[in-house]
Amino acid sequence: MTFHTVDLLTRDGERLSFPCAEDQSVVEAAAAADLFLPVVCREGGCGACHATAESGDYELGPHSEAALSVADAARRAILLCRTYPRGPLALSAPFDRARILTQAIRPRHAVVSERTQIGARTVRLRLTLEDEGEGAAAEFEAGQYMELEIPDEAGDGARARRAYSLANTANWDGTLEFLIRLHPQGRFSEYLEGRAAVGDRLRVHGPLGGFTLRENGLRPRWFVAGGTGLAPMLSMLRRMAEYQDPQPARLYFGVNRAEELFALDELGALSDALPGGFALIPCVWQADADWSGVVGTPADALRADLAVLRGDAPDLYVCGPPALIAAVEQAARDRGVPDDRLHSERFLPGLR
Ligand SMILES: Cc1cc2nc3c(=O)[nH]c(=O)nc-3n(C[C@H](O)[C@H](O)[C@H](O)COP(=O)(O)OP(=O)(O)OC[C@H]3O[C@@H](n4cnc5c(N)ncnc54)[C@H](O)[C@@H]3O)c2cc1C
Ligand code: FES
Repeated sequence: MTFHTVDLLTRDGERLSFPCAEDQSVVEAAAAADLFLPVVCREGGCGACHATAESGDYELGPHSEAALSVADAARRAILLCRTYPRGPLALSAPFDRARILTQAIRPRHAVVSERTQIGARTVRLRLTLEDEGEGAAAEFEAGQYMELEIPDEAGDGARARRAYSLANTANWDGTLEFLIRLHPQGRFSEYLEGRAAVGDRLRVHGPLGGFTLRENGLRPRWFVAGGTGLAPMLSMLRRMAEYQDPQPARLYFGVNRAEELFALDELGALSDALPGGFALIPCVWQADADWSGVVGTPADALRADLAVLRGDAPDLYVCGPPALIAAVEQAARDRGVPDDRLHSERFLPGLR
């Protein structure tokens, strides 16, 4: 077996080296060296493990176009879970060293404490972590997500997981809150629609992910959410309220139809709790005549506002389906917003 050395440079400048066999992905090789990279699907489907090959030869395994486009691959963007070295490889990663764990995350148990329908196809799910000898506190950073195992109806032991962003903030009572879109024929969706009940026990993994608030002085923070992409934004805004952060903020919140909007009262109350409040801009793509707000996607609204913005560009946080993220990235680049001010989390299906 031929091994090559992989040098991985993190965003905060730390260099990690480990051997990687030609038939091993960079993610697998890193795990063998007790370096657990921030991944989601591990199979080229979600785009969570984006990085750049600075030098060296490699092969890319099968992956979805949504996770890594042909154009990005041509620019030597890679997916760490689908990259196989063919010589010494130097990579740079868009996450800090703190995002790389040195031991695998131990699953924990949680109990369903609330399941509420809050929109046409949206459910608020609250879980309470069980105390397993080390306290039940829910420790995570605003914007992170958890993987929830689907309770196994058939008893066949298959443990499919789904990723969901936390909508609340770290707390001592072990509460995990999620906003979940119900998809037709979706496995977790079917559990939520048909079987979920207060008291159910679920296995949960996390916290995971690096989509978190960046401390960048007083630069404004603009949040762009599509549908349940609101969840991590709610978490970040709640954290800003808890810390009384002074950065001016605004939230573009997009849905297809006005009746799909949710959590507006809660967002209003949250705005009152922030020192400078925040501007809430609901956007409806297929609006009826009686809709008086923005008609279009949140990316359209953002583009229009960036076009008339004078002065320094804000930090942009965007979460939702890949098409929304691509549109926001394009709008930001057209306005000259530096890439390091753009932070995104893609909601993609395709987990195990
Ligand atoms: C890091 C991360 C965080 C996420 N956070 C959230 C969150 O907070 N709230 C939330 O609602 N979702 C979130 N998602 C998306 C969520 O994980 C998937 O939509 C979920 O896997 C759907 O599970 P399911 O079992 O119901 O459907 P599946 O069994 O996975 O899929 C069944 C069918 O539905 C389709 N489908 C499933 N999900 C989607 C989708 N997102 N878009 C289009 N078609 C889909 C599939 O293509 C398939 O045909 C997140 C995804 C990632 C990667
Ligand atoms: S973890 Fe690599 S694409 Fe999902």
